[in-house]
Amino acid sequence: MSLLEIVKWPDPRLREVCAPVAEMTPRIQALAADMLETMYAAPGRGLAGPQVGFMGRLFVMDTGWKEGKPDPLVCINPTLQEVGEDRATNFEGCLSIPGVTAEISRPSRVRMAWTGPDGKRFVRSFDGFGAVCVQHEMDHLDGIVTFDHLTAEARAALETEYGAGFA
Ligand code: NI
Repeated sequence: MSLLEIVKWPDPRLREVCAPVAEMTPRIQALAADMLETMYAAPGRGLAGPQVGFMGRLFVMDTGWKEGKPDPLVCINPTLQEVGEDRATNFEGCLSIPGVTAEISRPSRVRMAWTGPDGKRFVRSFDGFGAVCVQHEMDHLDGIVTFDHLTAEARAALETEYGAGFA
C-alpha cells in the first residue's frame, strides 16, 4: 500500500464528472486500499477518486474511525436510492480545500446503493454525519465541491480565505 498525493483546489480535475468504473479489477482494489490509507493519514473521513487523480466513480469513507468505531466503506458506482425531505446544516471540510470549512445545508437522510471492491452490491441508509459524508463524496464524482453549495457572497469570502488565485 502507499500514500497517494491529494489533489488540491482549484485543480481542474475537481470539476470533472467521473465515468462509471467498468470492472472490479485488482488495480481498482489496490487503489481503494491506497485511498483508505491516504484518507486515514490525512486525516479525513472521506476521499473520492478525483481527489487522487482517478476519474472514476469511486470513493472511500469511514465516519467512525475517529471515534474508535472503524467502518471503512469502498463505494464504487454509488447511486442515491432515496433522499429524505428533512434537511440539516453542517460545517464541511474537504481534504482538497485544506483549512476551509463551509456551512452547507443538505438532506439529513439518504439511502445509497453501491458496489464493493469484490463486486458485491450494498444498500444502506445513512443519517447524521454519514449522510453528509455520502453526499459530499458523491458530489466529488460529479465535479462539485463545497464552494458550489454557497451563495456567491459566502463563496467569495471563503475563496479569499483559501487564498488561491481564482480567475
Ligand atoms: Ni471533499
